Amino acid sequence: MTIQPFDKSNRQYIAEAAQLLIDCFPQAYSDCAYDEMTHILEDEKLAFMAVENNHLIGFVGAMPQYGMTGWELHPLAVRENFRGRRIGTELVAALEKAATQKGCITMFLGTDDEFGKTSLSDTDLYDDTYTKIENIKNLHKHPFAFYQKVGYKIVGVIPDANGIGKPDIWMAKRIN
Ligand SMILES: CC(C)(COP(=O)(O)OP(=O)(O)OC[C@H]1O[C@@H](n2cnc3c(N)ncnc32)[C@H](O)[C@@H]1OP(=O)(O)O)[C@@H](O)C(=O)NCCC(=O)NCCS
Repeated sequence: MTIQPFDKSNRQYIAEAAQLLIDCFPQAYSDCAYDEMTHILEDEKLAFMAVENNHLIGFVGAMPQYGMTGWELHPLAVRENFRGRRIGTELVAALEKAATQKGCITMFLGTDDEFGKTSLSDTDLYDDTYTKIENIKNLHKHPFAFYQKVGYKIVGVIPDANGIGKPDIWMAKRIN
């Protein structure tokens, strides 16, 4: 397995990445995965891929959002049968290193909880917000725990971002 900058000239990798978006996030990308890939691979953004046996098995992207100092990580996905092999960890590390070289201080991301996977779902997050964040429980393998393992902290929530009781969880990390 190798981690490398996303090869934008390779249509097979773009197709495999688009399929991975659909597999991981069908609710968001079933009908627009190729359009999303076009956005992810725009020149001013960063993207890295994990490749094994000439197939894309994971990728990560980020875009500058506050000049060059604050970048948003989006998206991150590893093929299901390759998870648990630290590929996600290595993709994020490669992305952070490249973003640092472009002046990034803070990498941040939103990780939605649309399907009741954490204790922050199905509750009024305008009420006792910070206690609820402090006491977050991972009910069904929500990826916020992955991001914590690679150094990200929960810095806030967008209550009801995806519908009542379906928040977005905001996380950030100082990388420089
Ligand atoms: C989240 C994801 C990218 C993690 O990739 P991965 O290659 O399996 O992660 P790693 O093997 O590098 O895991 C690093 C650590 O995080 C933990 N971890 C990974 N995913 C986790 C999850 N969903 N819940 C809890 N812990 C998790 C691992 O157990 C490992 O812990 P350890 O250091 O104690 O061994 C992958 O599960 C995925 O693609 N999920 C579907 C898409 C998705 O949810 N993307 C994020 C959207 S914001």
